[in-house]
Amino acid sequence: MKHYKICVIKGDGIGPEIVDEAIKVLDTVANKFDLDFNYEHYLMGGAAIDVFGEPLPSETLEGALNSDAVLFGAIGGPKWDDVERHLRPESGLLKLRKGLGAFANLRPALVFDELVEASTIKPDVLKGVDIMVVRELTGGLYFGEPREKQIDKAYNTMIYTSDEIRRIAKVAFEAAQKRDKKVTLVDKANVLETSQLWREVVSLVAKDYEDVALEMMYVDNASMQLVRNPSQFDVILTENLFGDILSDEASMICGSIGLLPSASIGGKVGIYEPIHGSAPDIAGQGIANPIAMILSAAMMLRYAFEEEAAAQCIENAVKKVLKSGYRTKDISNFGAKEICSTEEIGTHISNIIADE
Ligand code: IPM
Ligand code: MG
Repeated sequence: MKHYKICVIKGDGIGPEIVDEAIKVLDTVANKFDLDFNYEHYLMGGAAIDVFGEPLPSETLEGALNSDAVLFGAIGGPKWDDVERHLRPESGLLKLRKGLGAFANLRPALVFDELVEASTIKPDVLKGVDIMVVRELTGGLYFGEPREKQIDKAYNTMIYTSDEIRRIAKVAFEAAQKRDKKVTLVDKANVLETSQLWREVVSLVAKDYEDVALEMMYVDNASMQLVRNPSQFDVILTENLFGDILSDEASMICGSIGLLPSASIGGKVGIYEPIHGSAPDIAGQGIANPIAMILSAAMMLRYAFEEEAAAQCIENAVKKVLKSGYRTKDISNFGAKEICSTEEIGTHISNIIADE
């Protein structure tokens, strides 16, 4: 039996509800594949501010650093909106990403056949869409210094070094080699110096991956192309803020933001988190879609533990549940046989895994 220590951070809003379902599914997978998961729970975000007065207590960062992987729900909410920026829940997540060195954020956007009609985009545009957004996660405007908010003036700094660009570019090319062998670098090189550097460095890295085609696209065009003809993309490589925005856009192509998982890797320990936020407006109602969270657990099995069969087992069970017409409210506009609660979806997925 293989043993894994998982640092669990449920967070705020719908975080606890969806993480519970991921754990339910993981426990079923553990039984089936003879794995042993040891969950250690830590606070981050608003929940940590309430108890420790800070969004990332040192014990949480240490717990994460001493684990094999971090399974994270979501953070934030109106209750903490007025606190100073460095004490906001979001600052906790950014510090965790930085503290773990998780510079590469993989955000797969895959259209499930069963949900083609659930998207706001026409079905024929969606055929064959399978995109991997590779988002730089520990640089750019999110972390650049100097930054300041004064009374009548405020500024942030977008800064990248060639080392930061090179390491994320390698992740993108390696991902593309296992996929459709195409990388689209998304930037704003017609305006920004940082984007010019990205183009130079990425073009050099591309020389080591002759089997992968490199294409460059301005971010405004890319956001338009994503809804016009999303199947032209394979791997989208981009900096932090552009990746944040484009991955939300990509999620709506797939039908709901409640479906997209992510893996934040490259450092000592990876973070596995849905791309969506804490959705305070629906928290506690049992209606949140747990699928992005459950698929993030699958990514954890794949990337952190190299348990590919177990990861695929979860992904197949998710597909089967969608095929059976079990849907949370967010994807119930088409093909829903039964509108389910967060907990019911988790149980359906778990039962399929157990019965297979
Ligand atoms: C995400 C989120 C975060 C980000 C927030 C919560 C800081 O939007 O993971 O996409 O901007 O990275
Ligand atoms: Mg985001």
